[in-house]
Amino acid sequence: MTQAQIVQKTADFVKEKFSHEGTGHDWWHMYRVWQLAKQIAQGEKGADLFVVELGALLHDIADWKFHDGDSSVGGKAAREWLENQQVDHRVIDEVAFIVEHISFKGGTNQTPMRSLEGKIVQDADRLDALGAIGIARAFAYGGSVSREIYNPDVKPKQYGSLDDFKKQIADNHTVNHFYEKLLLLKDRMNTKTGKKIAEQRHEFMEMYLKEFYKEWDGKA
Ligand code: ADP
Ligand code: NI
Repeated sequence: MTQAQIVQKTADFVKEKFSHEGTGHDWWHMYRVWQLAKQIAQGEKGADLFVVELGALLHDIADWKFHDGDSSVGGKAAREWLENQQVDHRVIDEVAFIVEHISFKGGTNQTPMRSLEGKIVQDADRLDALGAIGIARAFAYGGSVSREIYNPDVKPKQYGSLDDFKKQIADNHTVNHFYEKLLLLKDRMNTKTGKKIAEQRHEFMEMYLKEFYKEWDGKA
C-alpha cells in the first residue's frame, strides 16, 4: 500500500469507529484535526506529513476503546492498527508517542511533546476545542455529563495538579470550563501557525462570553 492508501484506510477505520458519537469526540472531530494538522504542517518546515496525518487521525483512539482516557491504551491501539497495515516501525513509534502524549490534563500540567509532528497534532487538537466549534463541543460534553450550562454562584478554579483536575466534580458548570481550560490554550500553542489561528478563535470566544453574560442577565 502507498502512504496515501494507508492514510485513507486509517480514515475509513476511524470514521467507522467514531460515527454517531454525541459528546464532541466524533468522527468529525478527527476529520477537522486531520485537516487542521495538514494545514499547520504546511507552515512548519520539516514535518513528516505521513506521521502528522496518522497521528491526527488516531489521536483519540483511546477514547473509542475504553473511554477512560488512559493514554497508554491509545498508544497500543494505534500500534496494533498500524502494525496490521505493515507500517514502518519508525513511523509506528512516532505515531504511538503522539497518541500517548497529546492530551491536555489541566492546571499547570504541561504535556511535553518532543516531536515536531506531535506539536502539530497537539495544536490541531487544541484548536478544535476553540472558536465556534469549541463552544459547541464544550456544551455538548457538559450536557453529556449532566453539567449545568452556567451557574454564576460557582466560580472557576485553577487546578494545580492532574489529580485536582480529575476531581472536577459534576456540579462544575460548562462556562467554567472556558476559564479552566479553553481560554488558557492560546498561550500553550506549539507552532506559530497554530498560535495565529488560536488567537482568532480566542477572540471569538471572548466575544461570545460577553454576549452570553448580557443575555444571562436578561438584557436585550
Ligand atoms: P483532549 O482532546 O485534550 O483530551 P478532552 O477530551 O478533555 O480534550 O475534551 C474534548 C472536548 O470536550 C473539548 O472540546 C473540551 O472542551 C470538552 N470538555 C472537556 N472537559 C470538559 C468540561 N469539564 N466541560 C465542558 N467541556 C469539556
Ligand atoms: Ni481530540
